[in-house]
Amino acid sequence: MKKKAVDCRKISMNGSANLLQVPQTIIIGVRKGGTRALLEMLNIHPGIVVAKAEVHFFDWDENYQKGLGWYCEQMPVSVPGQITVEKTPGYFTSLKAPGRIHDMSSSIRLLLIVRDPAQRVISDYTQVLYNRKERHKPYEPVEEILVRNGRLNAKYKAVQRSLYDVHTATWLQLFPLHQIHIVDGDVLIRDPLSELQKVESFLQLPPRIKPSNLYFNQTKGFYCLHAAGRERCLDQSKGRPHPAVNGTVLGQLCHYFREHNRNFFRMVGRTFNWC
Ligand code: A3P
Repeated sequence: MKKKAVDCRKISMNGSANLLQVPQTIIIGVRKGGTRALLEMLNIHPGIVVAKAEVHFFDWDENYQKGLGWYCEQMPVSVPGQITVEKTPGYFTSLKAPGRIHDMSSSIRLLLIVRDPAQRVISDYTQVLYNRKERHKPYEPVEEILVRNGRLNAKYKAVQRSLYDVHTATWLQLFPLHQIHIVDGDVLIRDPLSELQKVESFLQLPPRIKPSNLYFNQTKGFYCLHAAGRERCLDQSKGRPHPAVNGTVLGQLCHYFREHNRNFFRMVGRTFNWC
């Protein structure tokens, strides 16, 4: 796609100048990393507006062909000065998304939320498991998918998605590391404010998300949001109990990821408390 001025609309509402803008920040993934929680929590900030639905513009050809004007129309209304954010976790593992995003804006700031890759695999499996159960379709136990003939099934898509070094390498070919902020998804679960404050700082926004905007909900077992006079937890599809997984299989997963994790740590210049 040719580089051109972004064809966004100005909207006049109640006498004030409102806009539809392409995002200045995109949450590129990773799937099951906590992307929805991050998006919803950032939406508390008055300087941020978010696209609620996953747009899949840069990773799905049929959407990309509709052009930037279409993309822009998917964005929420903002006022000048506000940052528009969209999240599509599929971008992280897409080979086309980095180049297409770079074509739109080479200076865009990217957010990548990662989580222990082995836990991410189980979360990914759990999502598919629930979907299949809901549709009364058969499903295999996770151990049977993960281990084939005694060896880890590295071809399983969920395992491939957790190879953070492989996917990050494609982004780093186009974007310098200082344009990619990495959110620790495990910390976002335990202590969301600390991670959100780092994002505010990365986006050069004044710190406006307060401790009172987040509270731990015992029933949900996760932090929920308290904003605009309303208390709200994420949808029930977020934070579902995972099936118990055989310890040997978890060990195999961990062993498989170890070298990839070390590579990822080297690439991003920090370490995480993973295998
Ligand atoms: P699980 O459902 O496996 O626990 P995504 O939005 O990228 O699909 O990520 C979903 C994951 O977000 C959930 O995985 C959950 O662990 C995590 N998460 C982080 N903070 C959360 C919160 N406050 N409420 C619910 N889930 C949260």
